[in-house]
Amino acid sequence: MRQVERHRTQRVGWLRPALPDAHDGVSDAQINPGLPASAGSGWSGELSAGDRSEIIAGLVGFDATISPKFFYDHAGSTLFERITRLPEYYPTRTERAIMQRHRREISLRISAGKTVIELGAGNCEKGKALCALIRPKCFIAVDISQDFLHRAVAGLQQALPKLEVRPVVADLMEDIVLPGDLPGGKRLVYYPGSSIGNFDPEPALALLRRVCRLVGEGGSLLIGVDLIKDQAVLEAAYNDAEGVTAEFNLNALAHLNRLIGSDFDRRDWQHVAFFNRQRSRIEMHLQASVNTRVCWPDGERHFRRGERIHTENSYKYDVDDFARVLDSAGFKQHVFWTDPRRWFAVFYAQV
Ligand SMILES: C[S@@+](CC[C@H](N)C(=O)[O-])C[C@H]1O[C@@H](n2cnc3c(N)ncnc32)[C@H](O)[C@@H]1O
Repeated sequence: MRQVERHRTQRVGWLRPALPDAHDGVSDAQINPGLPASAGSGWSGELSAGDRSEIIAGLVGFDATISPKFFYDHAGSTLFERITRLPEYYPTRTERAIMQRHRREISLRISAGKTVIELGAGNCEKGKALCALIRPKCFIAVDISQDFLHRAVAGLQQALPKLEVRPVVADLMEDIVLPGDLPGGKRLVYYPGSSIGNFDPEPALALLRRVCRLVGEGGSLLIGVDLIKDQAVLEAAYNDAEGVTAEFNLNALAHLNRLIGSDFDRRDWQHVAFFNRQRSRIEMHLQASVNTRVCWPDGERHFRRGERIHTENSYKYDVDDFARVLDSAGFKQHVFWTDPRRWFAVFYAQV
């Protein structure tokens, strides 16, 4: 464990655009705790006009993209659970080991009686372990994958019947609107799994600033961060031998077909994942294996063989760089714990 005091030192190239001086024009969205839980854009219901435009703009753009949030229909969330158990996928295991090894210190630092808000809660397994350790009054599970979230929350409520458990379906790219009737007391945002790495540096910083304001003075953040390591280890984690990550990536096409009525044929696409060292990120793409035309009700795009759709980034940090991001977001002090190989870090940051 190492104490990192608030400081500003030299900044690293790939992060520089996100870390100009304190007030850098990244807009802080308004948090409105007085409104009811967000209806969000959970994937079970209607697709919002904004999400539809986002998907189509991504498909017709010069460099085609699909936002990683569209991975997480029910099948995608289930595939992600399988990924976390793969031998090559070290993050989940390593983060869990850090949390277990330092549980005493973590529970001492995080005082009881809090409301815990988990972002991207998924199956709520990590939230459950944290709640069993620190015994908060209330647990809010925030996720975009509506059906999966509701089932996970029901399971958590059964396992911890005394805990007040509330689901909030929301897109983390937007304002997080919490229920207005939450108990008072300090708030802790829990953001495990290194999901912060799925955001480019500027949106990641903007999200952390919103988190700062969501927890308020005296509030805190517990966050998992994947660290830079050997390229072969990184690339194996996203190219598992069983092909589950490939399946997860390709599932986004089936999800898009349902969401916008497109006619992607997954047999025309291949999973590609590699480490982009310059940008310190794993990139996942879907690559056309043939010339193919994809149509949807009011549009189409032709993809040449070999052309790619960029589906996910997973940024890998150095601990000092991530400490600077926390500084820049407005956290006053932070500590972190890591594993003996320094593959992953869990930061605890206070406002
Ligand atoms: C990589 S998984 C991590 C799940 C779990 N926290 C863990 O660590 O194993 C990312 C989770 O965030 C959710 N998610 C992805 N993009 C999101 C977004 N834009 N807004 C809200 N939730 C999102 C997904 O549905 C998924 O449950």
